[in-house]
Amino acid sequence: MTERTDRLLAQLTVEEKVALTAGADMWHTPRIDRAGIPPLKMADGPVGARGASNTGGPPSACFPCGTALAATWDVDLVERVGRELGAETRAKGAHILLAPTVNMHRSPLAGRNFECYSEDPHLTARMAVAYIDGVQSQGVGACIKHLVANDSEFERFTISSEVPERALREIYLRPFEVAIAEARPVAIMAAYNKLAGTWCSEHAWLLTALLRDEWAFDGLVVSDWWATHSTCDAANAGLDLEMPGPTLHRGSALVRAVEAGEVGERVVDGLARRVLEAMERTGALDAPASPERAEDTPDRRAVAREAASAAIVLLRNEPVGGSTVLPLALDRVVSIAVVGPNADARNILGGGSAAVSPYRAVTPLEGLRDAVANAGLDVDVHHEPGCSITRYPPAIDLRWVTAATGEPGIDVEIVAGDDPGGDQILERHVTRRAMLSWGGAAAAESGWSARLTATLRAPATGRHVFQGGGTGRFRVRVGDDVVVDGWDDAVGRGRRVEGGVHLTEGEDYPLVAEFVAPPAAVGAETQLSGFELRCQAPLPDDAFERAVRAAADADVAIVVVGTNGDWETEGRDRKTMDLPGRQVELVDAVVAANPRTVVVVNAGSPVTMDWVARVPAVLQSWFLGQETGHALADVLTGASDASGRLPTTIARSLRDTPAFTNYPGEFGRVDYGEGLFVGYRWYDARAIEPRYPFGHGLSYTTFDFGPLDVSTSGDRATVTLTVTNTGDRAGVETVQLYVRDVEASVIRPPKELKAFAKVRLDAGGSLAVELALDRSAFAFWHPGERGWRVEPGEFEILVGRSAAEIRQRSTVHIG
Ligand code: BGC
Repeated sequence: MTERTDRLLAQLTVEEKVALTAGADMWHTPRIDRAGIPPLKMADGPVGARGASNTGGPPSACFPCGTALAATWDVDLVERVGRELGAETRAKGAHILLAPTVNMHRSPLAGRNFECYSEDPHLTARMAVAYIDGVQSQGVGACIKHLVANDSEFERFTISSEVPERALREIYLRPFEVAIAEARPVAIMAAYNKLAGTWCSEHAWLLTALLRDEWAFDGLVVSDWWATHSTCDAANAGLDLEMPGPTLHRGSALVRAVEAGEVGERVVDGLARRVLEAMERTGALDAPASPERAEDTPDRRAVAREAASAAIVLLRNEPVGGSTVLPLALDRVVSIAVVGPNADARNILGGGSAAVSPYRAVTPLEGLRDAVANAGLDVDVHHEPGCSITRYPPAIDLRWVTAATGEPGIDVEIVAGDDPGGDQILERHVTRRAMLSWGGAAAAESGWSARLTATLRAPATGRHVFQGGGTGRFRVRVGDDVVVDGWDDAVGRGRRVEGGVHLTEGEDYPLVAEFVAPPAAVGAETQLSGFELRCQAPLPDDAFERAVRAAADADVAIVVVGTNGDWETEGRDRKTMDLPGRQVELVDAVVAANPRTVVVVNAGSPVTMDWVARVPAVLQSWFLGQETGHALADVLTGASDASGRLPTTIARSLRDTPAFTNYPGEFGRVDYGEGLFVGYRWYDARAIEPRYPFGHGLSYTTFDFGPLDVSTSGDRATVTLTVTNTGDRAGVETVQLYVRDVEASVIRPPKELKAFAKVRLDAGGSLAVELALDRSAFAFWHPGERGWRVEPGEFEILVGRSAAEIRQRSTVHIG
């Protein structure tokens, strides 16, 4: 503890110390003017730093999602992304970025998989350390989340994760442990769920015995939003900060508990001290939150684009008529058909708290057209969506709406009282998300309503379907028509009302949406109310046939399929791994019409790919952030090598996946019955052939892996090998090292990733790659000894291109 924190703490009354341990509003801790303590401000991540407004406020940079960053297997690049995110956090006037998310890919259905990195704890840990180092190099803090076993969305606020001890230690806790030891994050977030029956936010073993005593974590423990369930238990267990505010469990309730001796004053001192220390570490004591600003710099765009292209995984690239379709030689094609529901969709991120209003969102179609224009070529790039994948009509496309200032977006006026036409304006802003969420003290006093206005330029001719969704009453007018009428008293969460209207392409229509927050929000200050506006433009009746015809008429067809943030989102798991809508049918029809077809899967986590053998070239592109289209064009044209590798296995079917028989859980519990056998550990052990294995990804060139030179010293080893680019173009390889415990007295997975390196080589170039293995590469968690143990004996070192493509092996004696 520093002298400064000491001094501040000594000045505070019990009431003030207690006040510091709970939020003042959604994103800030309270200010304590008497002691000169300003608020500490937090911003949501991980793809960007969203400011204090969920919907308004200046836009943010949007980087690739978690699975995409992990698919780069590039710690230097991820650290650079982290640095940009740290700078974005500062630009949003915040001190802590609520990221990274290091929960594991246990089931491919989990709604937030896109936000997490991998099925493997080593890859996850390396990504987390790089990300946190980058963010914190900018003087702000990272908040690693969500501790722990918050691996799906099913009953996420109440479920108890039941995890066998070794799996908990070796898989689920491991990324937190490594990141705390190596990157010293300023904060950690306790998860919504329970662990073995106790809320994570009041779990004394988790928050004190493990975090503080065993791991020596000296940072701030923050609750997930509204995840605090008690006054005494949470405080005594070591939950430093209840978020958001105003408090539900602290304040006078905690002061009374201190007076009654149920919570020691020293406990409260500890909680408050850690809030102050986090403020000191992030400069919050000296640099109180500044106004939010946009900082859309060329450097930031360049890093976003580099990370996005490095994330794209070339799953398959088979020759058609003697040559592969990829990389696409733009100067040798006359026409390209870019088809599919995601080809021109701004489908750059998953849904939920991870979403930001991006500076921009380059679609695959736009990216390819830019590449053609920049090369000065005259290639016809023709687009047809083919089908739609809407779960709901999508958020209204920013390209169609203009605010009064002429900028893309919708004008929002928040009005006091229940008449959206009223004249007491509480706030005015332009939203770029057609989504409104508002609340807080001002709302609680008077009730509130909102008026959203814009000019809508119809993107097509035909019946446009509008949808309003919200917690109160609402209606949407387009021109003179009330298109959506939710103007009744049926208030409640998640209400959606739809309506359609015929519009003419290119014509301008006044668009007005009115919303009245439900009275229930009055008085309950923490209860946000919100409204969102969605619109599905019409597809022609023959959309499918047009896409197939366009493909048949072009030299090359690129089909962009996938999911979107309505399918992959916080708060809800997917029901299946299957591509929604008619997408499989579209892929089949397109490839039948044009054998030179490339399929791009724009989804945050794996989808079923029964069609894959019928398509010569397939890319997995994740949710790539604002530079999506440019990055995709870079890889499609070979301007960048295809260098992404899968951070998660793509199973043939859901039935093959490790958590299948235990997912999603029942009676309030989810049993992690597969234990240690998560991801490739499962496919290896059960000899189940996945569609594509963990680590898989093709390059546009080929690599040779030389024999292994292994030197050992006690329970450490160093592995050296020479990697050679045997092809005729520069490329990037990821060397993956797995360890197998040959003679174990306990159950161990057949092999586990313990080191990797990314290598860039010119055609014909060679490089010696050194991979270091410390004790943890050979250890397992020993429940009896309550510690990591290395059993002396034989270990096999397996080095390859994926979990299924081992190129070199060597056996060593360790210990
Ligand atoms: C999410 C967190 C997020 C927080 C604040 C929660 O619902 O689980 O990841 O940081 O909200 O938006």
